[in-house]
Amino acid sequence: MSAPTLKIENLKLGFKTHAGVIEVLHGISLHIRKGEKVALVGESGSGKSVTARIVLGMLQSLKTARISGSVSFEGANLERMSARGRHALRGTKMSMIFQDPTSSLNPVYTIGTLFKEVLMRNDPAITQEQVYRKACEALADVAISEPERVLDSYSFQLSGGMNQRVMIAMALVNNPSLLLADEPGTALDVTVQAQTLKLMSELVEKHNTSVLFISHNLGVVREFADRVYVIYKGNIVEQGQTGELFENPLHPYTRALLSAVPRITGGGIPDIAEDPSEFLAPRVAHAGYSEEELLA
Ligand SMILES: Nc1ncnc2c1ncn2[C@@H]1O[C@H](COP(=O)(O)OP(=O)(O)OP(=O)(O)O)[C@@H](O)[C@H]1O
Ligand SMILES: [Mg+2]
Repeated sequence: MSAPTLKIENLKLGFKTHAGVIEVLHGISLHIRKGEKVALVGESGSGKSVTARIVLGMLQSLKTARISGSVSFEGANLERMSARGRHALRGTKMSMIFQDPTSSLNPVYTIGTLFKEVLMRNDPAITQEQVYRKACEALADVAISEPERVLDSYSFQLSGGMNQRVMIAMALVNNPSLLLADEPGTALDVTVQAQTLKLMSELVEKHNTSVLFISHNLGVVREFADRVYVIYKGNIVEQGQTGELFENPLHPYTRALLSAVPRITGGGIPDIAEDPSEFLAPRVAHAGYSEEELLA
């Protein structure tokens, strides 16, 4: 069997501060097989984005970061790679989509120029004509009907939903093996977010791209991911196939996360006249557990 696309083993991260080193990741392990869509879920500050940033090689050069453990991408250990080697992977074999497309697309350049930059990372000798053709194809893949106009536009001239589609197109144009999607589209309204996630899902399926999908939204995770890791305060507390984990969550923190998901039908937004303990109790069920129990 071939090496997994991503393998993280016993990854620890601390940040040096005036008050000493603050430990953020306490030895997490996870893997993503070829073509697998894996979600990392957990509350704010649990260590999801820093994990993605280490995979992208973006924290290794930070003077305050203390990193140990190993991260392998397609069998090659990233820690043994030079900073230049890791840099070369970004935007080519590994790419990313962030929460807010408008602030992630440099407003100084047209979308066409940004596409050129991304495509040249993969092939410095690419011609202007090839850039144009590939960019148009990628935009057509994300259902943008007027690629010429979009290529001549700046991100601030496009809608949030269009920018999100552009970001997905750009992230996939070099046909990466791994896509890291950190809360994609949560800055958009829910309908647009759902549409763009569906598009992303279809495209990664078509190209057999492995995905690390970071999200708070368990409803979306259930739709999108094959497998889920639950992270709590820098520890992976549970992992499993999506269906099984949602049906039968074993860890109290996972149960608490699941019970905090607003239901679309029935009891979504509590009636203001209701006794608060009635609707709060199931949502904050974890409040009844001790720290030891949650981290056991
Ligand atoms: N450069 C940094 N220096 C110091 N601390 C940092 C740095 N980056 C992240 N942290 C800390 O690491 C912890 C994990 O942050 P991270 O961004 O991974 O959270 P997250 O799970 O992605 O949360 P969210 O859901 O809010 O995006 C937080 O306590 C954060 O304050
Ligand atoms: Mg984050």
